[in-house]
Amino acid sequence: MSRLKGRRIVLGVTGSISAYKAAEVVRGLVQEQVDVRVVMTREALAFVGAVTFSALTARPVAIEQFPDTGSSGEEHVDLAVWADTVAIVPATANIIGKMANGLGDDLLSTVMLACEAPCCLAPAMNFRMWRNEAVQANLERLRNRGVHVVEPEFGALANGEMGEGRLAAPDRIVEAVAILADPDQDLAGCNVLVSAGPTAEDIDPVRCVTNRSSGKMGFAVARSAARRGASVTLVSGPTNLQDPYGVNVEHVRSAGEMREAVLRNREGQHAVIMAAAVSDYRPGVPVRRKMKKTEERLTLEMTRTADILKEVAADRPPVLIGFAAETHDGMDYARRKLAEKNLDLVVFNDITAEGAGFGTDTNIVTLIRRDGREESLPMQSKSGVADRIMDEVARLLRNREVVPA
Ligand code: CTP
Repeated sequence: MSRLKGRRIVLGVTGSISAYKAAEVVRGLVQEQVDVRVVMTREALAFVGAVTFSALTARPVAIEQFPDTGSSGEEHVDLAVWADTVAIVPATANIIGKMANGLGDDLLSTVMLACEAPCCLAPAMNFRMWRNEAVQANLERLRNRGVHVVEPEFGALANGEMGEGRLAAPDRIVEAVAILADPDQDLAGCNVLVSAGPTAEDIDPVRCVTNRSSGKMGFAVARSAARRGASVTLVSGPTNLQDPYGVNVEHVRSAGEMREAVLRNREGQHAVIMAAAVSDYRPGVPVRRKMKKTEERLTLEMTRTADILKEVAADRPPVLIGFAAETHDGMDYARRKLAEKNLDLVVFNDITAEGAGFGTDTNIVTLIRRDGREESLPMQSKSGVADRIMDEVARLLRNREVVPA
């Protein structure tokens, strides 16, 4: 179950060519079981139809401040009070200017005047408008009032020009809204370090030894921690995944680089969660030139890499969690890892099970706790598993009085 289930979000859509991307954002929020009510400006209707949004949300779309039929004239206040969080996607220079200056001349701008809930804006406009001093001053004013701005990206704009001002990717906007809308910021003030993905150990400039980890589980853990208010650092080996929103990401390649990055970021962390599949061996002698084939057989000599988790455990953060991905006798190995590496929790998964392991979007894990309690979770999304792991982190941090009970 999503942590956002039943949260109430008013999503404002204003008149930009990127208004169609708001449909993707609404869809992402609905998938998180959020109750979304869409408010469109009249200008937005020039770009996308209201039915798109009413179909996605199963709710009527609000447009007019004083509709002809059955209006109390108070809909702007009703919507503002109803909302747990408000997001405007896309936000034009016009709505930004109205909000910064306290103007209300249509339904959306008056909702914003009445709104006391957390709010985020995802601006979209031509780069000339984006760099306009008045627009930037208005945004600064809004930021200072606590409005969260999902920065636009550099890229191709509506008229084919390249520049800054392109609406942020819909999944990043969903993530930003999710952080604002999370009902329980129980990790606020905590620092969390996560490792994720595989490592790659170079044999020569062309070839490497790596493994099948996709990084999805570790990224889900980082995202879950960020949603609960933690300040998150993610050290990731090579993956195909987008950096999670609101997370400080360090990209590394080898086990040696991962060790360096983890140890450099180790100071001040309240919880360290090592989800990476770190190579236990690396080719002994680095070769600078591409190896040419010669004999029928080739023996590759490998040397052990340092156990990063064990090193972190030597100077223990308040909470330390490891993963164990196994193909056989898994529970025994996982219990042994918990003891050997001095961990609070091992997340064990049998990678041979269908719906578990590398590359999948789901996982089947057993949580093995230091106090001996073991809990097998049913198959669920990796983000669901990540939420359960972060529940454990929050519980342990409360027990250790790092966060208030
Ligand atoms: N780990 C680490 N550094 C390493 C190897 C593993 O930090 N050099 C961490 C992983 O991120 C994971 C846990 O240790 O949290 C896995 O334990 P490990 O015993 O190393 O697992 P495997 O190498 O998969 O197991 P085995 O010993 O059976 O080869």
